[in-house]
Amino acid sequence: MSKSLISIQDFSKDEILHIIEIAKEFEANPVQDFLKGKIVASLFFEASTRTRLSFEAAIHRLGASVIGFSDVNNTSQSKGESLEDTIRIVSNYVDLIVMRHPQAGAANIAQSISHLPIINAGDGANQHPTQTLLDIYSIEKTQGRLDNLCINMVGDLKYGRTVHSLSQALSLFDNNFIFTSPKELQMPYEYKEFLEKKNKKYLESQNLQEHINDCDILYMTRIQQERFASPEEYNKVKDIYILEASMLKNAKDSMRILHPLPRVNEIAKDVDKCKQAYYFEQAGNGMYIRMAVIAYLLGYR
Ligand code: CP
Repeated sequence: MSKSLISIQDFSKDEILHIIEIAKEFEANPVQDFLKGKIVASLFFEASTRTRLSFEAAIHRLGASVIGFSDVNNTSQSKGESLEDTIRIVSNYVDLIVMRHPQAGAANIAQSISHLPIINAGDGANQHPTQTLLDIYSIEKTQGRLDNLCINMVGDLKYGRTVHSLSQALSLFDNNFIFTSPKELQMPYEYKEFLEKKNKKYLESQNLQEHINDCDILYMTRIQQERFASPEEYNKVKDIYILEASMLKNAKDSMRILHPLPRVNEIAKDVDKCKQAYYFEQAGNGMYIRMAVIAYLLGYR
C-alpha cells in the first residue's frame, strides 16, 4: 500500500526533519520537474484559500498537472454519490489525492479505499497535518531550533485541528506548552493525555495577556463559528481574545506570532506591523512544505 499522510503521527520525527530539509531545497529552487507527466487530484469538499491554492501551486511547481474541485455542489455528490465511490473513481485517473472534508475521519475512509497516496488537507475538527508541517517549518526558520521552546496556543483548542496536530508533532521534541482558551474550548483530554504519557509539561490559562511575555511562539487561532452546535454557544465566546499591538510591549524580540489563518478579529490589524508578526510569511511557507510532502510520497529522496 502507498504511504499516505492522514495524521501527523504517520510521520516519524526523522521524516518530519527530512521533509523540512526537502522544503528548504525547494524554497531555494522552486522550479522543479520531478513530477513531469504525473497528475494530482485536489478534492476540496470544504472551503479553503491557503491550503488549496498552495497545494495546487506546489503541484504545478513540481511539474505535475492538477485536476479536482473546490465546490462539492458541482460534483455528483450533489446527486447522492458517496465519498467512497468518488474516491474509487478519482483513483483511476491520478497518481496522488489531496483532500479536505468537513467530516473527521474522511481522509481515513479515502485511504482505506484507494491504492494511491492520500494527503489529508484537513478533516473536520480532527487533523491538518500539512498545516502542522508548515508550522514546524516556520518555527524552525524563526527560532533556529525545535527544542526548548515555550509554545502558547490560544483560542479554539477544542475544535482546532491545527493545534491538535501541532501539539502532537511538537511532543517529538523537548518543549513546554501553554493552552490559553475559555473553559468551553479547552484542549480535549485525549491530546493532554497524549502529552502526559510522553512526560511533556503543559499548563492551562484563560487569560491571553498572562503568558505573552514567557513564550517563544504565540499560536493564535480563530474561534470557528462553523464547528459550533448553535449560534448562542458561538456568541458566548466569539470575541474572547483579541491580540493588540499594545499587549506585545514586553514580549521577547525573538517571539513570533503564528496563525493558520484565516483570521477574523482575534489579531488586530495593528499587530501586522509588529516585528513578532509572522503569520503571512507562515502561509507562504506552506507551498514549499506541500511541494516537499507530495514529492516525498511520490518517491523523491
Ligand atoms: N490554514 C488553512 O487551512 O487555511 P484555509 O482554510 O484557507 O485553507
